[in-house]
Amino acid sequence: MQTIVLTTQKGGAGKTTLAISLALAAIRAGHNVRLIDTDTQGSVSNWRRRRTCAAPIVEPIYAARQVEQRLQSLSREGVTMTIVDTAAGITAATVSAIRYADFCLIPTRPSLVDIEATAATLSVVRAWRKPFAYVLNQTPIRAAARLAGAENSLGDEAALDIDDILARPSIVMRNDHQDALSVGLAVCEYAPGGKSAEEIRALWQWIDARMGNEATATDEPIIEELVETPAVLPAMAALPRIETDSALFLRAPARN
Ligand SMILES: Nc1ncnc2c1ncn2[C@@H]1O[C@H](COP(=O)(O)OP(=O)(O)OP(=O)(O)O)[C@@H](O)[C@H]1O
Ligand SMILES: [Mg+2]
Repeated sequence: MQTIVLTTQKGGAGKTTLAISLALAAIRAGHNVRLIDTDTQGSVSNWRRRRTCAAPIVEPIYAARQVEQRLQSLSREGVTMTIVDTAAGITAATVSAIRYADFCLIPTRPSLVDIEATAATLSVVRAWRKPFAYVLNQTPIRAAARLAGAENSLGDEAALDIDDILARPSIVMRNDHQDALSVGLAVCEYAPGGKSAEEIRALWQWIDARMGNEATATDEPIIEELVETPAVLPAMAALPRIETDSALFLRAPARN
């Protein structure tokens, strides 16, 4: 089993929306998926209540100490992909989820302010040496042009490994995402022929490949025209390393 954790301390970046969308994309790619909701806000659990299909099962797990044991038991139950939604901020449950993740996905809106706000989350991910990538979410369709000014403030060196830490494609802001979740669907179900669904399927394939998985027979081809990359992207690579409280982030979760 592999575990993907959607995490950023920044609220409203798209953790829940992408966790749900990617869960459905993973199901369609042949995975036995479990969605874990570690956010007491309960957005994934509420979405599940609006949903009539059996899959995916959503499990609320708010206690940090339960994250590891549940991930271990899910693996024995035949789940092949667990996707974890986390709360804004950096909670104990989030830190525990990151610790046991195979891959961390950090959604951010494409503005420098939003990107900078991910620094503390990135620091935790790095502290546990977890593979990670950012994904730009809620991007304007013509993001590259609109954000060109931000690029001037970024150094060449920062852009060197952007391909390693930026998942593709970016996810454009479209009503389909909001409308799908409001009726208990994912965007791939709500508007399967739409651009948003294409982007999500392609994002899933990027993540799946990044985790070292072979494309499954049910995978659909990656869309030919990916969304333009906003010029602000190199800012991600330039994020300063924040020295987090190692006592908090490096401590093994309590086992009582
Ligand atoms: N690509 C998108 N296009 C349009 N709306 C989006 C997109 N992604 C997210 N949203 C909307 O933005 C809002 C915030 O998204 P979401 O709840 O997924 O963020 P979050 O990171 O989980 O927030 P929180 O930190 O509060 O848990 C929601 O109303 C959601 O529908
Ligand atoms: Mg959320």
